[in-house]
Amino acid sequence: MDKAYFAGGCFWCITPFFARAKGVAGVVSGFSGGEEKDPAYEQVKAQQTGHRESIEVSYDPQQTSFDTLLHIFLANVDPYDGGGQYIDRGHSYTLAVYYQNEKERLAAQKALDEIPGAQIALEPFCGFYAAGEEHQEFYKRHPEEFAKEMEESGRTKVLSEKGERLVRQLKSFAEEEPWYVSLLPNAAALIWETLPDLNWAGFYLIRDGVLALGPFEGKTACIHIPLGKGVCGTAAVKDSTLRVPDVHEFPGHIACDSASNSEIVIPLHKNGRVIGVMDLDSPSLNRFTAGDQTLLERFAGVLEENIDLGELSVE
Ligand code: SME
Repeated sequence: MDKAYFAGGCFWCITPFFARAKGVAGVVSGFSGGEEKDPAYEQVKAQQTGHRESIEVSYDPQQTSFDTLLHIFLANVDPYDGGGQYIDRGHSYTLAVYYQNEKERLAAQKALDEIPGAQIALEPFCGFYAAGEEHQEFYKRHPEEFAKEMEESGRTKVLSEKGERLVRQLKSFAEEEPWYVSLLPNAAALIWETLPDLNWAGFYLIRDGVLALGPFEGKTACIHIPLGKGVCGTAAVKDSTLRVPDVHEFPGHIACDSASNSEIVIPLHKNGRVIGVMDLDSPSLNRFTAGDQTLLERFAGVLEENIDLGELSVE
């Protein structure tokens, strides 16, 4: 197992985003960046040492990479906040990537160069001290307190604002041009740019009785999916959203991209009939939450309300 070290604000909150990722064997909450050995949680919280709340991610380099972990890290922090993260203020809650070698340093520098103005320290790794047992896997041990912390810290709000922006942007694209040839590629791109940890996002539309590939982002994909087959064909026939935590356990899953591990498929309607599906794939297991489903169903609703199907129109 390889290890990677990040400081992303409150370690309770940042842990689940890594823990559920493919190839991650474990995440330990602890402290990095200060000189004192084995600091206490209270000392670090009170800014009495130079440490930051940090996490140690153990991962299988055959299944994931430092670059992927970096991507997860950047997608779940506010990179411009140099004074802490959300409600948690002070140096111990500031952002850092602790690199262990030149390869990691270069990868992190490259990622940071793509976010001008980011307030993220890039520091050599100088030791990690695990926090007490009560801080480990906090989201699993204390789901209610975890949810409260996510809420009160402002993280949930920031995530839901991201969702609101997504829906607003789609509406403004649809206002300018509702024709499906213009709208669907931008809808796929919007999802691709906004939601982290995806390897495919796009559409299949029913044509001559099968699902035919529509606009998408990601690797080249299967062109035809029979109705009733795969996750897409099943969602279309059942006319309900399918959220699949592990696609390898879904009977008849169609593997267009072998990187996919979880998937969500939402049927699209026009005039009361299913006209196709919106499909999102992730390399992480269990990537799509109930919150994602709600947001994506709203997104699909805006598409349905506005889309002009042109020559594909159904009466
Ligand atoms: N996995 C899908 C096929 C489409 S690709 O994921 C883009 C399925 O089982 O229907």
